[in-house]
Amino acid sequence: METRVGILLSGRGSNMVALAGAVERGEVPARIVCVASNLDDAAGLGRARELGLDAHAVPQRSYGSRRAHEEALLALLEACGVEWLCLAGYMRLLSGEFVRRFDRRLLNIHPSLLPAFPGLHAQRQAIAAGVKVSGCTVHFVDEGLDSGPIVAQSAVPVEDGDDEETLAARILEQEHRVYPEALGRLLTEPWTIRGRTVRFGG
Ligand code: GRF
Repeated sequence: METRVGILLSGRGSNMVALAGAVERGEVPARIVCVASNLDDAAGLGRARELGLDAHAVPQRSYGSRRAHEEALLALLEACGVEWLCLAGYMRLLSGEFVRRFDRRLLNIHPSLLPAFPGLHAQRQAIAAGVKVSGCTVHFVDEGLDSGPIVAQSAVPVEDGDDEETLAARILEQEHRVYPEALGRLLTEPWTIRGRTVRFGG
């Protein structure tokens, strides 16, 4: 059975494209039924439409409060029958109420090896900290900032001479592989969450 997946984004949408590609190739038993953005000029919306996906702008500035904006988003996702939701460069913190509506069906990808460097500019934080290894993390979303249970990670070296851009590019390549792989596993394998630990297997 195909799971109905929604994607929220705020930017260029390369992770959305990677997820859509994996679905298209039959690597993830899902159907992307809705792509939505809080910004009406997000480039990712155009890329989604080019791929033939249903793409919607739900601009936060059209709503008086975070609550009203989230209600509008939830109404859209519900109308599209979204079962699992993937954040792909969605640059707004979601409320506890929103997160609970997608309990254990809400994922994010973050460009660092969490719990190191949560929040904005994770690659810049990694360069500034002088770490020799960084990477990306797929995690369940909770109310905190990049703090939910970790599903999958991939490490990359930080090379001498790297800057934020070169490191980001190296990490992004891994993001595009790891995010669809993690979603595919969650949809097809048994798993549990105990405390903060996600475990695959019966
Ligand atoms: C990625 O680096 C992702 O890890 C972070 O935001 C960026 C989104 O990039 N959450 P894109 O819009 O998917 O290209």
